[in-house]
Amino acid sequence: MKTKVAIIGSGPSGLLLGHLLRAAGIECIILERQTRDYVESRIRAGVLETVTTDLMRQLGVDQRMNEEGLIEEGFNLADGERLIRIDITRLTGKHVMVYGQTELTRDLIAAAPDRGLEIVFEAKDVALHDLEGSPSVSYSKDGISHRIECDFIAGCDGFHGPSRKAIPAHLVREYEREYPFGWLGVLADVPPCHPELIYSNGPRGFALASMRSATRSRYYIQVPLTEKVEDWPEERLWDELALRFDPISERGVTRGPALEMSIAPLRSYVFETMQHGRLFLAGDSAHIVPPTGAKGLNLAASDVAYLSDALIAHYRGGDDAGLNGYAARALSRIWKAERFSWYLTKLMHRFPEDGAFEHRMQLAELDYVASSEAMQTVIAENYVGLPL
Ligand code: APR
Ligand code: PHB
Repeated sequence: MKTKVAIIGSGPSGLLLGHLLRAAGIECIILERQTRDYVESRIRAGVLETVTTDLMRQLGVDQRMNEEGLIEEGFNLADGERLIRIDITRLTGKHVMVYGQTELTRDLIAAAPDRGLEIVFEAKDVALHDLEGSPSVSYSKDGISHRIECDFIAGCDGFHGPSRKAIPAHLVREYEREYPFGWLGVLADVPPCHPELIYSNGPRGFALASMRSATRSRYYIQVPLTEKVEDWPEERLWDELALRFDPISERGVTRGPALEMSIAPLRSYVFETMQHGRLFLAGDSAHIVPPTGAKGLNLAASDVAYLSDALIAHYRGGDDAGLNGYAARALSRIWKAERFSWYLTKLMHRFPEDGAFEHRMQLAELDYVASSEAMQTVIAENYVGLPL
C-alpha cells in the first residue's frame, strides 16, 4: 500500500489532521490500535478554544457542536469562600465552548467515510521505518501483516504511542514535572451546581465544577496519588463535593448515579524536538499539560493546524518552509500553554510540601486577581487560547 501521509492514532490530533488533509485533497490513512467503540467512549476534558471550534467549522463537522455545545463567556476561580469571575468575553471579546472531547471525536469519526478518510481500527504492532529515507509504517490486522509506504508520518499516537520513541534519544530533550496528586473525576446526569465552571482552592483542597450540558455535570477533586477509586464510594465523593461547592455555587451540588469515575495523574511534559526526518509529532505524543486550564485538546488542535498548513504548502507548491519551521512554531505556542497550565495548577492546588506561608501566597494572589483587571485579562486571554 502507498499513501502520502500515514497518521498513527485516531485521537483528536490524528482525526483533525486526517480531515484537514482530505479537505485539501491529500491522500492519508489513520492507523489506530484500539477499537472504534473504545475510542468513542473514552471520557476526556470538554472545554474548546476558538482554535478548535474554528477547525471543526472549517471542516463542516460543526453541526452537532453548534446545537449542543455551551458557549461560556466566563469562568470562576474560588478561594473557598467567594467566586472571582473571569469575564472572558468582556476582557477578550471571545468565548470558549463546553463540548466533550468524546463528542468531538465521535463527530470526526462519523464524518470520515464521506470525506474519504480511511481509519484502520485495531491496527496492532504499528512500527515506523526509515524516517530519514523512504518512510513506511508496518502493522498487523486480524493476523495479517501490512506495510504502508508514504511521504510523511504523523505521530498522533498520544503519550504512550511508538512515534516519539522512534526518534533517537541523542537528538532530543525531555522536560517533565510530575505533580504530587491526581484528579478524581465523576460524570453524572445531574444539573451542574453553577452556570459556569468553578476552579476552587478551598480549605479542603482543589475542586473543579464543570459540565457537559444543562443536565450533565463533570466534577473533579484533588486526591493523593496513593488513593484508588475504590477508596471513594459515590456517597463519599458527593459529600465531599457538597462541602466544597454548596457554599459558593448558585444551586448547590445535585447528586446522582456516577456514569464514570476515574483518577488521573497530573503531569507537565514537553518533548523537543517534534520532527525527525519525515516524522512529525502532534498532540499528546509530544507534550502533556495538567488538566487545569483544559489545554490538552486545544494544543493538539493548534499543532495539527500548523502541520496541515505545512503539508498542504508542500504538496501545492513544493514550499517546505512550513515543514522545516513546524517544530519551532508549534513549540512556541506549546510552551506558553505549558506555562499557563502549570501556573493555574500551582495557584489552585494544595501541595503536600507547602506550608502555611505558601498557602497565604496563593490566597494573596487570588485576592490580587479579584481586584485587578490587568490580572484578570492575563488569565482570560490565556484561558480563551493564545492566537495561532
Ligand atoms: N498504534 C496505533 N495507535 C496508537 C498506538 C499504537 N501503538 N498507541 C496509541 N495509539 C492511539 C491511542 O489509542 C489513541 O487513540 O493514539 C491515539 C492518541 O490519542 P490521544 O491520546 O487522545 O492524543 P491526541 O490525539 O494527541 O489528543 C490529545 O486528547 O488525550 C487527550 O488529554 C489529551 O486532550 C488531549 C488530547
Ligand atoms: C472537564 O469538563 O472535563 C474539564 C473542564 C476544565 C478543565 C479540565 C476538565 O480545566
